[in-house]
Amino acid sequence: MKIFLDTASLKEIREAADLGVLDGVTTNPTLLAKENGDPEQSLLEICRIVEGPVSAEVVATDAEGMAREGRHWAALHPNIVVKCPCTAEGLKATRVLSREGHRVNMTLIFSPTQALLSAKAGASFVSPFVGRLDDISTPGMELVADIVNIFGNYRYDCEVLAASLRHPMHVVEAARLGAHIGTMPLSVLNAMLKHPLTDIGLKRFLDDWEKAKKELAVKTTH
Ligand code: G3P
Repeated sequence: MKIFLDTASLKEIREAADLGVLDGVTTNPTLLAKENGDPEQSLLEICRIVEGPVSAEVVATDAEGMAREGRHWAALHPNIVVKCPCTAEGLKATRVLSREGHRVNMTLIFSPTQALLSAKAGASFVSPFVGRLDDISTPGMELVADIVNIFGNYRYDCEVLAASLRHPMHVVEAARLGAHIGTMPLSVLNAMLKHPLTDIGLKRFLDDWEKAKKELAVKTTH
């Protein structure tokens, strides 16, 4: 499973990249708006830090405008993936952009039919929003399962990017279901690594080692 970070924070991206397990980054207008500075420069810097797809979302709502913005994002760096919202206009823009050779991540996916249409339009990634479905008492992970299942029946060259993951169990479930990618905040990535028994075990190893060294020193001086 590929691990993407869902942020536009350079600090957080550097921290995750240093772990050596970061495969890509997803941004959206909300995440870019939280950061200072020029979004284009931020995206370029993200592409320098991470060797993998970096999603940049369009904000136009008509197909022509989306395609125009998408071309602009894509021209910034070969790793940029154009993010389009899953609307009729987004579908048209996806068809145009994918025919031109640009990769599209169809975002705001909340149903299997939206994912199916996105793949047919040539999207390279679909982003089902798990947490936001959970928020409205609808099991978000069932959507991931449906999409993985449907895509498995055909030969769509489209990856399932489980998005809006809020905690490590979302990542575990997405991985169990065979989602190709999980995108998450840094807090979730860090929580995936943490285990109290690891900390306790390491402390015990180090304490025992120090004790043994002291005992050896006492023996060799007598
Ligand atoms: O990747 C989509 C993500 O940014 C949405 O996450 O937690 O705002 O639903 P959330």
